Amino acid sequence: MAIQAECKTEPLDDNHLRLSLGETPTITHFFRGRSETWKQVALKAKNFQGNKLRVLSAGCSRGFEAFSIAAIITQVRPDLDFEVVGVDNSPTIIEIARNASLSTQILRFEKAEVDPVFIPLLDKMIVLSDGLDQLKISPCITNKCDFTQADLFDLPDKLGHFDVIMCCNVKMYCLSGVQRDDLDCRLSNILKAEGLYITDPGYPVYKPKYFDLVEDFSDTGVYHKAAKEI
Ligand SMILES: C[S@@+](CC[C@H](N)C(=O)[O-])C[C@H]1O[C@@H](n2cnc3c(N)ncnc32)[C@H](O)[C@@H]1O
Repeated sequence: MAIQAECKTEPLDDNHLRLSLGETPTITHFFRGRSETWKQVALKAKNFQGNKLRVLSAGCSRGFEAFSIAAIITQVRPDLDFEVVGVDNSPTIIEIARNASLSTQILRFEKAEVDPVFIPLLDKMIVLSDGLDQLKISPCITNKCDFTQADLFDLPDKLGHFDVIMCCNVKMYCLSGVQRDDLDCRLSNILKAEGLYITDPGYPVYKPKYFDLVEDFSDTGVYHKAAKEI
């Protein structure tokens, strides 16, 4: 049976409320970070034996991370039943994610920023919407993604458990170590026993308490749920 950690919640203060209200920058990118990290997602999908692979993009912003995950999985295991759940506390950003559109200008910028190995995949993900400036993420990607507005500190039980959780560029907004550990603890409790946790090292750099490191890619670390009770 998977270990359930006891999370030490801080009383809600101004900092937490600020996070809960979604007043954080919502910058995101397709295939953000190093390609080694994305290879871990691909590997997990490739070797997945269960019925349905479930991935959480925690703090998903406008969905580019969730769409990237879905594109990678579709590429390596076109046969696989899977879903990517994106959660963000900002209702506005969740509406944008659900709409799954972007301008040609954003796409140009993303292509300039992304690791070039991902450009063919990015091209496949995008379809023209009106032939002018608006582009859409392809339905074969969006059909695999479900966006929910929720606070990561108060996730609804119905969200269930996940085989992979990505929580990148979110914890930097936790303004105390206790709050950051609380978030890690909550995410560890919804990660399946053999699941992967992918997160950035934070600033200042710290080691997530509720997980054991599998591989460190400097901009992200890949973890398993801690083998020992905390
Ligand atoms: C900088 S973006 C990162 C997006 C994406 N994970 C990435 O790495 O590209 C951070 C996102 O986390 C969301 N966020 C911050 N605190 C949150 C919380 N307590 N619950 C849910 N979402 C939160 C913000 O609304 C924002 O969209």
